[in-house]
Amino acid sequence: MTDANPSMPRVLPADEAGLAEAVRLLGEGACVALPTETVYGLAARADRAEAVAGIYKAKGRPDFNPLIVHVPDLQAAERLAQLDDRARMLAEHFWPGSLTMVLPLRDDSGLAPAVTAGLPTVALRMPNHPVMRQVLLDAPAPLAAPSANRSGAVSPTSAAHVASSLAGRIPLVVDGGETERGLESTIVALRENGWQVLRPGPVTQAEIASVLGPALAGDTKGIEAPGQLASHYAPGKPVRLEAQHSQEDEFRIGFGADGGDFNLSSSADLAEAASRLYAALHAASAAAQARIAVVPIPHEGIGVAINDRLARAAA
Ligand code: TXA
Ligand code: MG
Repeated sequence: MTDANPSMPRVLPADEAGLAEAVRLLGEGACVALPTETVYGLAARADRAEAVAGIYKAKGRPDFNPLIVHVPDLQAAERLAQLDDRARMLAEHFWPGSLTMVLPLRDDSGLAPAVTAGLPTVALRMPNHPVMRQVLLDAPAPLAAPSANRSGAVSPTSAAHVASSLAGRIPLVVDGGETERGLESTIVALRENGWQVLRPGPVTQAEIASVLGPALAGDTKGIEAPGQLASHYAPGKPVRLEAQHSQEDEFRIGFGADGGDFNLSSSADLAEAASRLYAALHAASAAAQARIAVVPIPHEGIGVAINDRLARAAA
């Protein structure tokens, strides 16, 4: 990244100076893009209404969907929400990591109301990325952070994705390289009568069930997860799924032996495919072809989350 284009945000390496600058800006209430192990997040302090409003403004998010609040440790989580035994067990197994829990909000959380969009619950995550963790430890408050892209667009898995998507809208991106998981965290809601996955992600439903027992029966679609819009991750071109064959004007996203123009994983490894999915959509959107075709992806493990994101990209 050069300084030649004045509208491009500053991109700093994730060294001591870069992290200090991020913490300084966050303290002032600015938005800063930071790497996490899932996707890059657009962070702002979650205790100030103006800071949170800055996230919505930068993303061009049309309405106030609740945001995930990121915490450095369990004590910070306990200050914001009521954790029961199930929540503590999940935290023990999956935190720090790619799991977000929707929990009852504490009256004295101190969070700006826009963070939870007025809901009596809050979504909490303890990320497992050294840069995000250090910034969370040094920042004066927990950080709200949705994916660092324009609303509705493909999520960013590199600093370059962030810089081009949010050019002119944010002051700083901390470059932590490519994100490891590549898909947003799994969101699980802990309700009085049981638990439900609201958004599939890197932690699978089976892994959660191995800790909590079976999920609540029934379809979660349409029940909750405000902001889980049908159309999302839009690459700006028509997307055709389960494509056995492609036409000439299609950029083909492949998997395994069926490589196409961008192979998500030549060894048919679903975790690798997840980590490369958004890069594939970015590449497809920049390619000459007018349309995008995606080969069938196995609907197992993290393949469930991949297919969830692909369905939204195609909607
Ligand atoms: O991996 C991730 O989770 C990334 C990285 C940056 O950490 N963050 C992320 O955040 O995806 P965000 O703010 O875009 O996720 C917000 C989604 C909402 O669209 C909604 O579906 C769900 O989290 N959510 C947040 N608060 C909720 C609540 N109180 N009840 C139900 N769903 C909630
Ligand atoms: Mg997003």
